[in-house]
Amino acid sequence: MTRIRLGVNIDHVATVREARGSAYPDPVRAALLAQAAGADGITAHLREDRRHISDGDIDRLSKELNIPLNLEMAATDEMHIIALNAKPHAACIVPEKREEITTEGGLDAARQHNHLSPIVRSLGAAGIRVSLFIEPDRSQLDAAVSLGAPVVELHTGAYANAEGAEQQRILKRLRDGAAYGASLGLEIHAGHGLTYDNVAPIAAIPEIRELNIGHFLIGEAIFIGLENSIRRMRTLIDDSRASGSGAP
Ligand code: PXP
Repeated sequence: MTRIRLGVNIDHVATVREARGSAYPDPVRAALLAQAAGADGITAHLREDRRHISDGDIDRLSKELNIPLNLEMAATDEMHIIALNAKPHAACIVPEKREEITTEGGLDAARQHNHLSPIVRSLGAAGIRVSLFIEPDRSQLDAAVSLGAPVVELHTGAYANAEGAEQQRILKRLRDGAAYGASLGLEIHAGHGLTYDNVAPIAAIPEIRELNIGHFLIGEAIFIGLENSIRRMRTLIDDSRASGSGAP
């Protein structure tokens, strides 16, 4: 099976900085450390309320990284212009509500077709690889194709929050969605809420090419350091991929 790329989301380094309004800790420094530890890409979400990552962070990430930057963004005029200026390798379009603690579900690409279509087209024309963060439903995957997005990121948040039979049911939806999406020619990514304990079954889904992981890795870095937390995640992903079983 192909090796999965690991995108490290550094938003929550900026969350700690913003908790005090200080200049540290610097998320760009974390991104460079993640790059040195073998991350295949860096993900950052510039939220409308700038609660963690700032415009200046995106500027510096664009200039200083040697690995691809994946900008997570809401489909707004403001973010559209910022993305066109920053020209990240990829832009992942996510739903965004001001009052949410984190991204709470996938984008409704099927219902928002007319709103999303010009943004997806314009980012694509600027050479930015567009990804849509969606639930693993056929209607959403079909909508991604009709919008012309080359990539989808399947939302794993509900899987991460569930347990037992419910988690297995959601895992099956993710497996079926990944297979269906790949059969349509979409590149399949996944992310949200992934940890050492729940990553293996997701990494074993053969169609998945990239995982984006942040909150857990940054939290774990408090105890073992960022490089170690990334390296351990990398090993768990590679081991699961090699065995193909996804057994934890
Ligand atoms: N992928 C997307 C689209 C996200 O919005 C997020 C959270 O910002 C992640 C991945 C990473 O999720 P987590 O921080 O829970 O690992």
